[in-house]
Amino acid sequence: MKWQGIPYAKHWVTQEDIRGVCDILSSDFLTTGPVAQIFENRLCELTGAGYAIVCANGTAALHLACMAADIHDTDLGVTSPNSFLASANCIEFCRGRTDFIDIDLSTLCMSPDKLETYCREQAVPRVVIPVDFAGLAPDLPRFRALSKEFGFLIIEDAAHALGSTYSFEGNTFACGSCAHSDMAIFSFHPAKTITAGEGGAILTNDPDLAERLRLLRNHGMVRNQDPKTPWDGPWYYEMDTLGYNYRITDFQCALGISQMDRLGQFKARRNQIVSLYNQAFHGNTQLILPPEGLATDACPHLYPLQLANGKEARLALYKALHARGIHCQIHYIPIYWQPYYAKKYGYEKGKCPGAETYYSRTLSLPLYPAMSDDQVQEIIDAVLANL
Ligand SMILES: Cc1ncc(COP(=O)(O)O)c(C=O)c1O
Repeated sequence: MKWQGIPYAKHWVTQEDIRGVCDILSSDFLTTGPVAQIFENRLCELTGAGYAIVCANGTAALHLACMAADIHDTDLGVTSPNSFLASANCIEFCRGRTDFIDIDLSTLCMSPDKLETYCREQAVPRVVIPVDFAGLAPDLPRFRALSKEFGFLIIEDAAHALGSTYSFEGNTFACGSCAHSDMAIFSFHPAKTITAGEGGAILTNDPDLAERLRLLRNHGMVRNQDPKTPWDGPWYYEMDTLGYNYRITDFQCALGISQMDRLGQFKARRNQIVSLYNQAFHGNTQLILPPEGLATDACPHLYPLQLANGKEARLALYKALHARGIHCQIHYIPIYWQPYYAKKYGYEKGKCPGAETYYSRTLSLPLYPAMSDDQVQEIIDAVLANL
């Protein structure tokens, strides 16, 4: 099936990618095997993290990370309201209690100041899940300083940020490096920077967390590895912890590895498109451009353009672009507006004014590396003609 018009995101799969997948389809391993391990090593090389555990998708990665963080029975977890549902749902999967810390309009990510106030005046969460919105890391070093003071764990939701970096005290860190977090996750959904069809990964520098994550990914099963142990026989396995089947196949990992070979190319093209948009819209008082950080060493995942005139102007532009086959999207409806969260916790509109202001006027323009310059120009012309 083909897209009609210009989608907001699209994978880019080449014949080489297809060959890589087909080679695995005719090999002896289909499910998580040696190729998954190669993919994990590549993720470690890219980010500098000590351990990577690949799994079924980014949502599974978040769930595994929350289980490894031992979230259970009303333990408090907080995340950004400006994210996909999964950033919060993972706390709920563990029967934790979910709350939301507002964003800074300058980064569109969770505000460290607001988190600090929350910890001092309301409650100290067990886990904080900051989200690298659109490919831009929030102030992770500041979150790390707060975690040292208050004792919470940090899971960086880097689903948007494979290939992005951030700077701190003159050093550069990869998103997902866990230099300032306990765990980080990626998603390999086709809308993301690289794809495995579906897929996800958790990264960490903590060997105990890595071991637990591997265990939880595969039903919590431990096989009898020591012939001297008094188990029932060499076939025996035990399950002491409830885990899941969150495995990923080796042929998906082959696609992920092949795509990683082109990450530099994807990043360069994404940045070129962002520059073209920025140049065209710069100085237009009706438009608020994405955070400046996206123009540094980020690998931009989205181009969230805000309409200074707000909700009505956004709706009109959304409709005009869709009528021309330009499938812009809205990222994101504040998560706590969802009836599930509103009913369960009594969260009301007005709770996070930053996320709500941003939501009321934002629209993500198409951004993916296979877009042609002509398509970018078509979108720019359509935006400027419909303000
Ligand atoms: C910020 C964020 N976190 C987590 C996820 C979940 O990833 P997946 O779709 O691979 O389950 C997504 C996917 O859209 C996302 O955008």
